[in-house]
Amino acid sequence: MSIMSEPQIRILTSSDWQLYKSIRLQSLLDSPDSFGSTYAREVLLTDVEWRARLETSARTIDSLPLIVELNEEPVALAWGLIHQNSENLAHIYQMWVRPESRGQGIAKALLSQIVQWAHNSGCAEVALAVTTINESAMHLYLKSGFEPSGVTEELRAGSELRVQPLLLKLPGDPRNQSADR
Ligand SMILES: CC(C)(COP(=O)(O)OP(=O)(O)OC[C@H]1O[C@@H](n2cnc3c(N)ncnc32)[C@H](O)[C@@H]1OP(=O)(O)O)[C@@H](O)C(=O)NCCC(=O)NCCS
Repeated sequence: MSIMSEPQIRILTSSDWQLYKSIRLQSLLDSPDSFGSTYAREVLLTDVEWRARLETSARTIDSLPLIVELNEEPVALAWGLIHQNSENLAHIYQMWVRPESRGQGIAKALLSQIVQWAHNSGCAEVALAVTTINESAMHLYLKSGFEPSGVTEELRAGSELRVQPLLLKLPGDPRNQSADR
């Protein structure tokens, strides 16, 4: 058996749906305050629904579902997504690194891959939302050039937690020329 010593990032395909289901549910259990969705909600999804999230047809607008593996174990997840009718804006969702793999640059590598993909896809901006009390994620994004954009919102209906929308302006877009200087 080959032993990988470095975490490997790859794109998830529909045949990875069980792997995706397992790491996504793990992330929702581990970090319930980091995501708008919940374990209770997603554990009810059918196998067809899990697979459909990764189907090419669901990805036509463009999505980049990334997983990180270390020694054949999934250790991190993140999605880049460009919604229909909003081709200039990429979103980042579902960012999660398992606790024992944190602090090694894995999230930074995922972020950088998604930002590069957004840039190559012609996007002018990348958006995400982070819970205001989530210091590690807030540091990660602010250090990477994201800036607060707009007012905070409820994490989910009825939650006392708030999320701050953040925006990264990508270079090369004429609308961002003053930011480039
Ligand atoms: C936030 C999270 C994704 C960071 O993952 P990570 O792989 O540990 O992050 P990295 O090692 O790539 O760190 C990148 C930067 O993030 C910041 N950072 C990460 N962990 C931090 C911590 N505990 N405290 C302060 N800053 C931290 C640092 O600025 C770091 O940059 P540096 O190495 O130049 O100092 C991870 O802690 C996590 O999965 N948390 C739970 C889920 C979550 O909150 N997801 C984000 C949803 S928006």
